[in-house]
Amino acid sequence: MAHKGNSIIKGIEISELITVLNKAYADEWLAYYQYFIEAKVIKGIMKDAAIAELQQHATDELRHANMVADRILQLGGTPLLHPQEWFTKTNCGYDAPAEFDVVSILQDAIKGEQCAISVYSEIADMTRNKDIVTYDLVSQILADEVEHEEDLQALHDDITEFVSELKEHINH
Ligand SMILES: [Fe+2]
Ligand SMILES: [Fe+2]
Repeated sequence: MAHKGNSIIKGIEISELITVLNKAYADEWLAYYQYFIEAKVIKGIMKDAAIAELQQHATDELRHANMVADRILQLGGTPLLHPQEWFTKTNCGYDAPAEFDVVSILQDAIKGEQCAISVYSEIADMTRNKDIVTYDLVSQILADEVEHEEDLQALHDDITEFVSELKEHINH
């Protein structure tokens, strides 16, 4: 544990911070696996563009898990040791893909990102002016999650627009 490092944390319980970060850590692993498996099972129109996006997001979520784990250790905590805890500690849960078409997969993924944005903005509110290191870390992750949502939404809109134009042409 970084004693001097932790002494700069003011007005917030370190144990509470560790609990909150471990919940986010569970979310990141579940998000990583959700993207990983979505990229495998996805089917249909423009799926290659979606696969590239999903794989990139999987890589980012794993990187986030790494960042959060390192901060938990710095604070003197232990990152969750058993994958079973991912399900009991998660904020955002795990949405196993039910439909494998591109639009359904993208919609599930967008929902996940919206949850991640809420979680990190809450941790940012909790740590602002109290723990600058965690605040900086969650701000970086939050910026990635905002970008993820935007990328998925843009792809979703392109695909649904393309499909509806296609339908128009067929009907004329
Ligand atoms: Fe993430
Ligand atoms: Fe994300």
